[in-house]
Amino acid sequence: MGSLVAIAVALVLVAACGGKSKSAAAVPMGQELYTLSCAACHGTTGAGNTFTLKGQTIKVHALGWADLSQAYATDPSRGSVEQQIGLAITKGLDEKGEALNQMMPRWSTLSSAQVDSIIAYIKANFK
Ligand code: HEC
Repeated sequence: MGSLVAIAVALVLVAACGGKSKSAAAVPMGQELYTLSCAACHGTTGAGNTFTLKGQTIKVHALGWADLSQAYATDPSRGSVEQQIGLAITKGLDEKGEALNQMMPRWSTLSSAQVDSIIAYIKANFK
């Protein structure tokens, strides 16, 4: 859990310093946020991960855009693929609106511009 606290602290610093970025800088801001906040669990290439922690096995999903956009297209009444992935990130909701495992932090302090930039980064880089 120590690393999670470090991640949270780093995130607050990023939020404090980077809050005024314009959306034109979406992908670079997304890359920075992803590297600080997500890569430790999901991997720098978005390939996912499997951890064993105190005898418990935790599978961290891969974030390939092809799979994500397919999974999150099953119920369009919940919004666009990007909106639903935004809900996964900020509220921990899966494509059915059900709670993701608690190991996925709820990134409720990210601004919508920050969430959009992370999604733009995932979309542009993880196939
Ligand atoms: C502490 C580890 C951890 C961190 C840090 C983390 N995640 Fe996750 N994430 C998980 C786990 C574990 C799951 C799978 C949850 C489940 O299966 O219910 C998950 C699931 C997801 C999902 C849903 C994937 C799917 O196939 O439905 C998305 C999207 C996601 N994470 C994005 C992010 C983003 C973006 C960040 C950074 C802002 C992030 N995660 C940071 C552990 C983490």
